[in-house]
Amino acid sequence: MIVLTKILAFSVALILIFAGVTYVLPQMKGEAPEEKEVDVGALTMDSFTAMGEELYGGKGTCTLCHNKLGRAPDLLAFDVAKVALERIADSRYQGEVKDAEGYLRESMVRPSMYVVEGFGKKGSNDTESPMPAIDKPPIQLSDVEISAVIAYLQNKDGNPVTVALPVKAGAPTAQGKDERRPANPVLAKSPQDAIVKFGCAACHSILETESPIGPNLNDVGERLSIGQIRQSIIAPKAVIAEGYPPIMPDFPAMTITELEMIVRFLAAQTDTQS
Ligand code: HEC
Ligand code: HEC
Repeated sequence: MIVLTKILAFSVALILIFAGVTYVLPQMKGEAPEEKEVDVGALTMDSFTAMGEELYGGKGTCTLCHNKLGRAPDLLAFDVAKVALERIADSRYQGEVKDAEGYLRESMVRPSMYVVEGFGKKGSNDTESPMPAIDKPPIQLSDVEISAVIAYLQNKDGNPVTVALPVKAGAPTAQGKDERRPANPVLAKSPQDAIVKFGCAACHSILETESPIGPNLNDVGERLSIGQIRQSIIAPKAVIAEGYPPIMPDFPAMTITELEMIVRFLAAQTDTQS
């Protein structure tokens, strides 16, 4: 019963998130709004960062200030995810975040935690930012949208995309703190690392270990398309493999980079012997 309730809550949450996203996206184009379906199973690093890019120039209004005219730092002209680490090490930094993702999120929701020199409100001696909190009206980006913008900003300079998968509606992220995982998550370095980190082998035969609880993954690349594999992980309850219980958990702390590593690795598993 608890499992069923969870499945339901999960599906509803997903539908809400993606309904929200599809609702908003076509509106900012100023063209005939096109009914765009977001297929959760097809949510990839590329589509998520593309969504962030669209928000950056559109609904987020970031380019109104962040451009070449000098009103705000031109975030496209430098590696802001890297510079973020210098900002939080600076003695003028007021916040508590410890990593680039945290800094980017905080810059958007509590801009005055660090004010880039020369860009503060007049007379504030660079203690007050003129940037509005973009999770508040009128801009009011949702948590998922903020994560997409962060993904875009991390990805544009080839940094790992550390934002968590958008699986939970209303997850507590707005205050720069994400309670779903530790403040400083250690990113898996390889697909094998990621599979160990998320305990996949506890239920699946993979990486030399055997477990009969879930389907054998050593040949999953033969049975499922890359999109189906991705969906199995993002939305485990959407399709249940026949003959197995619906017990595969969600992985809200998995980052998009880790997801992509695992998906590509599994798609290449075609060992039909084992
Ligand atoms: C009304 C103008 C304005 C808008 C709109 C705006 N910003 Fe800013 N932003 C600023 C200014 C000015 C600064 C520099 C002062 C500061 O550090 O807060 C800044 C700083 C930042 C920083 C920190 C940069 C650094 O070098 O440390 C980030 C990240 C950022 N903004 C992201 C965004 C994003 C993403 C959006 C859109 C969702 C956005 N901003 C919208 C004016 C704006
Ligand atoms: C608690 C046990 C459990 C854990 C942990 C778990 N899974 Fe699963 N998984 C299952 C079960 C049971 C199924 C079959 C039922 C279903 O489709 O949900 C499954 C199905 C799958 C499928 C679809 C396989 C097929 O042949 O249809 C994939 C792919 C998958 N899991 C990948 C993963 C990955 C990657 C991880 C780690 C990030 C993981 N699983 C962690 C239990 C688990």
